[in-house]
Amino acid sequence: MKKAYVIGSNVKESLSPLIFKYWFKQNKIVGEYLPREIEPENFNEELKKILEEGGVCGFNVTMPFKERVIKEIDMVDEHSKKIGAVNFVSKTENGWIGQNTDWIGFSKAINIKRAALNKKIAVVVGYGGASKAVIYALKKENFKEIKVFNRTEEKIHHLKKERGVTPINLKHLKDHLLEADLVINTTPANALQSILTQKETIKSMAFDIVYRPEETDFLSYFDKEKRLYGISMLVYQAAPCFEEWFGVKPSIDQGLFDLLGDYIK
Ligand code: ATR
Repeated sequence: MKKAYVIGSNVKESLSPLIFKYWFKQNKIVGEYLPREIEPENFNEELKKILEEGGVCGFNVTMPFKERVIKEIDMVDEHSKKIGAVNFVSKTENGWIGQNTDWIGFSKAINIKRAALNKKIAVVVGYGGASKAVIYALKKENFKEIKVFNRTEEKIHHLKKERGVTPINLKHLKDHLLEADLVINTTPANALQSILTQKETIKSMAFDIVYRPEETDFLSYFDKEKRLYGISMLVYQAAPCFEEWFGVKPSIDQGLFDLLGDYIK
């Protein structure tokens, strides 16, 4: 039986095992997908055990190891290299390869409402690992301008060199909300809370990478029909991993979203 893991420092609550279990059943596959919690100080030692364990076809990587894992595996694909983060690692004949499907998950998630989405100005709040995959995807989606806001300005200075990307201090966010076509939260906090005095309705489309609860405080500032949910990114980033490890393209259906819906109310 093939086995896969999701590794991270806080994966007990991860919904990925539920997604995989749903697809195992859907495709009548006998497989295993387990959360494996790792403390940052034990990362190298624990990872070594996984890499040496028999029957492991791969593992997903989540916070805070998406960047660190790169040094410990044999190779990475071109997307991960450009993003600087890996969210899934697979065993191949040539060794362990790291790939990134977060950007694919994000692209698919925003395209759920593509008919209503003007791909002109995107506002990205936060600049951590997830944000880098989001920016990569926005470029691939041909957004004309990507404005990246961060509390710590030093971390985004270098983005000035990138064509179509403007780094801005988070304190100026309010001035840019009106003209944004898509506003994306990639932080664990709601940056809008401190800058908008009441729950004003912003006209842009909104995406929150935080998927639990589904209706986050950040999303509550936007029209209900303009909200895009982090849970779809989670599902869409998982599908290529399942396909690579278990050889079947899983179907992403309403039954899966209904099941997950119960866990993110
Ligand atoms: P991930 O890798 O999951 O994206 P991360 O690397 O910890 O997470 O990044 C978190 C992002 O959220 C950072 O941009 C961080 O801002 P700083 O670079 O200034 O630390 C941002 N962030 C976290 N808490 C925040 C808060 N309370 N207000 C604003 N930004 C916050």
